[in-house]
Amino acid sequence: MLFDPRPKERRNELFNRTKELEVLSKYVTSGSPIILCLGIRRVGKTSVLKVFINENNYPVLYIDARRLAEVGYTKQGLYSLISEEFARIKGRFATIIEYLKAIRGVNVAGHGVEFNWRSKELSISSILMKMNEYAEDTGTVFIMAIDEAQYLRFLKGHNRIDFGYIIAYSYDNLRRVKFILAGSEVGLLYRFLGFSNPSSPLYGRVRDELFVERFSRELSIEFLERGFEEAGISVSERVIEEVVDLLDGIVGWLAYFGYRFLQTGRYDIIDQIYNEAINIALSELKKLTSLSPLYAYVLRALASGFDSWSEIKRAVEIWAGRRMSSTTISRLLANLVDMSIISKENGRYAFLDPIYKHASKQL
Ligand SMILES: Nc1ncnc2c1ncn2[C@@H]1O[C@H](COP(=O)(O)OP(=O)(O)OP(=O)(O)O)[C@@H](O)[C@H]1O
Ligand SMILES: [Mg+2]
Repeated sequence: MLFDPRPKERRNELFNRTKELEVLSKYVTSGSPIILCLGIRRVGKTSVLKVFINENNYPVLYIDARRLAEVGYTKQGLYSLISEEFARIKGRFATIIEYLKAIRGVNVAGHGVEFNWRSKELSISSILMKMNEYAEDTGTVFIMAIDEAQYLRFLKGHNRIDFGYIIAYSYDNLRRVKFILAGSEVGLLYRFLGFSNPSSPLYGRVRDELFVERFSRELSIEFLERGFEEAGISVSERVIEEVVDLLDGIVGWLAYFGYRFLQTGRYDIIDQIYNEAINIALSELKKLTSLSPLYAYVLRALASGFDSWSEIKRAVEIWAGRRMSSTTISRLLANLVDMSIISKENGRYAFLDPIYKHASKQL
């Protein structure tokens, strides 16, 4: 169903994006060992990635790095996610298990694959080395797909895993292993990978980039029409256009509207659904403002139309009731750009998503 609120897994539920799937295919068969899948929130990165994985017959470990928050940003946590994935794919790639068994510290029992993460001999690179061998022997490419990969930067603890080094090692030595890294916080992902930071293990490495873009107005209209048609419901052009005008081609919001229309069976509640979407964005922004209330002032200033550095600084100072250092304001703005909440172009700041702009007025 086109309006299903979860990320799509199959091509027949994925609207458009043929070009993106082709580009990913091309990168995997002939591009750099590092592929980045980037785009703002809710634009459909995970859907493109999942459909690509399901459509092709590559052995892929798919890891959503946000899950580390639940299993722990530790070696043990990371291995538990990898182990789940091997258990998931091993039925499809029968001999992969034989390669895994050859690694010390790996225990294959019953349906599961266990990693003795305390073992000195076990490392992520040793697993990737074996997967490289597997891929060479079977004429394929082994893919490590990591969604919201910027969260890998939080891996910590004794014997901390530095994922940058693992990718760099693989890049230099393992011809048949590729990384697809997706993320909505584009600046944070770049900073974590450090392609332009001389002290980063990935400094100067080449990568391929797929930017998942928002839909044009025409495509957004077509998306809603197709979704309603699929549900066997006819909705007036006026309603469709009104919704599209509010949402700026961000498919996640379009799907949300479609889904809620079908759920409620009413098409005269655009305002209500719009407010729901704003509340979703607001609760995401509140996570940020709980870290520093100054974010609320900066976002509110921007949402009120102050879009230059000095105007924003002045507004924040008035609301905070004190003077702010230039570095504080610059750092807050740079962080918001890194998180892809706002953009900076020609010295002007702007929201990337109109829903976040409206949510910010309520901060
Ligand atoms: N091409 C598409 N066709 C139909 N629905 C889509 C498409 N792309 C995304 N969606 C829908 O939009 C919503 C967001 O998609 P998805 O989770 O893939 O985006 P994302 O960019 O990974 O978002 P996030 O930044 O939150 O991780 C989901 O409801 C998904 O079903
Ligand atoms: Mg996603």
